Amino acid sequence: MDKHAARLLVNAATAGRRMRRRRMHGWLRDLARENALTVHDLIWPIFLTAGVGKTEQIPSMPGVSRVSPDLAVDVAKRAADLGIRAVAVFPNTPSELRDPMGSEALNPNNLVCQAVRAIKAKDIDIGLITDVALDPYTSHGHDGVFSSNDRDIDNDASVAKLVLQAKVLAEAGADMVAPSDMMDGRIGAIRQYLDEHGHTDLPIMSYAAKYASAFYGPFRDAVGASATLIGDKRTYQMDPGNGQEAEMEVGLDIDEGADIVMVKPGMPYLDVLHRVKTTFGVPTTVYQVSGEFAMIEAAAGNGWIDRDRAIMESLLAFKRAGADGILTYFAPEIAAKLNG
Ligand code: PBG
Repeated sequence: MDKHAARLLVNAATAGRRMRRRRMHGWLRDLARENALTVHDLIWPIFLTAGVGKTEQIPSMPGVSRVSPDLAVDVAKRAADLGIRAVAVFPNTPSELRDPMGSEALNPNNLVCQAVRAIKAKDIDIGLITDVALDPYTSHGHDGVFSSNDRDIDNDASVAKLVLQAKVLAEAGADMVAPSDMMDGRIGAIRQYLDEHGHTDLPIMSYAAKYASAFYGPFRDAVGASATLIGDKRTYQMDPGNGQEAEMEVGLDIDEGADIVMVKPGMPYLDVLHRVKTTFGVPTTVYQVSGEFAMIEAAAGNGWIDRDRAIMESLLAFKRAGADGILTYFAPEIAAKLNG
């Protein structure tokens, strides 16, 4: 068949509506694009270590390091200068300070509180998001505390700690608390406890649909919780097979007072993200977790994928699926790119 005959066939098949017409030029693709990533979408997770003037590389997260609280001020400044609107702070608590009850989480002078106070003292225009969960503080690596029979994580005993931790963080000057523990009822309990103590304007970002995922491995290295974790987190984090249940989790957290809800991990759960945003329409964030970061870095390091394009594509996918904000370890690099 010649080209002319084929043209008639294709015109008939498409009724003249050729989809490729608007993909033919860069300017037209730019005009027609439905979703875009901006620097305001980015939340940068950063890691802390004890000491002064200290920086440590994290082997399973190439290019990511832990910094001591004094240097966290420089990191926050760098983020603000790049136009990033928020950082999320995670501590690698010295092992001698970890115990079964996660007591160090309630120390008003723990690593996170030190960093928050140091950053706040410099009046840097950036939101400080602090995690509410016990895993960087417990000797067993769980987000809560064990029940007296030592068999499982005790929901209500854990919530009793988490409300206190949220208050300690609020008092240190955190701008938002982010419960990442997945205990039942903790959003409502934290909201009420914060309100009773005068923190009515402190927002809560709930890790609302958080899955028991294999993709958290490098993060657990970063906060020193991999070596210590006893068992797994399947009795409180969600089963990867469930999508409907995510709507229930998110709905409960919104009813209990969550201001922003999160889906985590990101790329394996784009359907959940889309579902959550479409169903509830509230500000929704997604966490491109450490394992997703590590996969891109490892494949790119082997020359198997184009690193820069893969990063951009992964982040744009979150926007397309409905994310308002994205926690990503690529934040500073991408911010610089978006600014440039
Ligand atoms: C735990 C917490 C985890 C992450 C953030 N908060 C790990 C876990 O649930 O074991 C993972 C983030 C990442 O992998 O980048 N409270």
